[in-house]
Amino acid sequence: MVTSASPTLLFEEFGESQVLRPVRSPMNYIGGKFKLLPQLLRYFPTEISTFVDLFCGGCNVGANVKADHVVFNDNLTYLIDLYRELKENSVSEVLSHVKSRIVEFGLSLTNAEGYSKLRELYNTRRRPLDLFVLAAYSFNHQIRYNSAHQFNNPFGKERSSFNPTMEKNLVAFVGRLHEISCEFRSENFDKVDLSELDSKALVYCDPPYLITTGTYNDGKRGFTGWDLQEEKTLLALLDGLNARGVRFALSNVVRHKGKENRILMGWIAMNGYNMIHLSKNYANSSYHTMDRGLNSSDEVLVTNYTAE
Ligand SMILES: C[S@@+](CC[C@H](N)C(=O)[O-])C[C@H]1O[C@@H](n2cnc3c(N)ncnc32)[C@H](O)[C@@H]1O
Repeated sequence: MVTSASPTLLFEEFGESQVLRPVRSPMNYIGGKFKLLPQLLRYFPTEISTFVDLFCGGCNVGANVKADHVVFNDNLTYLIDLYRELKENSVSEVLSHVKSRIVEFGLSLTNAEGYSKLRELYNTRRRPLDLFVLAAYSFNHQIRYNSAHQFNNPFGKERSSFNPTMEKNLVAFVGRLHEISCEFRSENFDKVDLSELDSKALVYCDPPYLITTGTYNDGKRGFTGWDLQEEKTLLALLDGLNARGVRFALSNVVRHKGKENRILMGWIAMNGYNMIHLSKNYANSSYHTMDRGLNSSDEVLVTNYTAE
C-alpha cells in the first residue's frame, strides 16, 4: 500500500472551498461522474503531479481535478478527436460551428431528416465537431457506432437538442480544457504508457462495470466491449502500479440489482486496498442509511493509499 496521501476537500459540495470551479461535461455522458464528484474529490490526494483519467468518457473527473497535468484517455477514438478539437479551437469558433450546423441542417426537436443528413455527412467527412452536434440531437445524447464505425445512434425526437444548459456546459468545458495543462490519448487502457509516473501521480479508473450494462460494455458499438478478461487485465495493471508506489483510485460497483462482483471484492480484500462506499444520491449520506435492497447499487471507490 502507498502511504502518501492526505485527504482533501477540493471543493465542498461545489461550495466555497472549491479550488476549481466545477464544470460539467457537455456530453451528458452515460455513467458520468459529475454528481459523485464531491465524494470522489474528498478521497483524492491534495497534491497530484500527473492525473491520468484512464477511461475519461465525458471527462467529468479529469476536468475537475487539481493536478499539474491531466492525461485523458478513452478508446472511443472519435470522442478523443472531438476533445482535441475543443482544446485547439476557441470557444467562439466551437460555438459558431455548432450553431451554423444547426441552421444549415434545420436541426430541432422534431426534424429527424435534418439529423439523418448531418449523420450521413459526419460518417463521410468525420469532422470531430460534428460529432458534438450529433450527440446534442441524438437519442439520450448517446454516442454509438456500428462495427464499421458508422455513427448509428437514432434521433432524440422531442427530447434531445442543443439547449441553453448544454451551451453553458460547453462554454465552461472548452474554457477548462484551455486553462489546464492536458493531453488526450485514444488507446485501450492497457496500452497507455504509464511508465513515467511516480508517487505523486494518480491514476483514476472509471471502467465499464462488469455487473451493470451500458452501451460501452456490450461490445456492440464498434469498440472493445468489457468482459472478465478486461476486468482481470485492469486489476493486474493496478497491482503493477501499486508495486511501483504509484497511487490509483478505481470507481466501480460491488453489488448491483442482486449481483455481486466477487472477483473485485476478493481482489480488494486480498490486497488490503481501501474500499469507500459512495452514495448515488446524497453526497453526505452515510453508507449505513442507504437502501441496500435488491434494486440498489453499492458504488465504491477503491484506493491503494490512505486518506487520513
Ligand atoms: C463509465 S465511462 C467513464 C465516465 C467518466 N468517468 C465520466 O465521468 O464522464 C467508461 C468509459 O470507458 C471507455 N472504455 C471502455 N472500454 C475501454 C478500454 N478497453 N480502454 C479504454 N477506454 C475504454 C468507454 O468508451 C467509456 O467512455
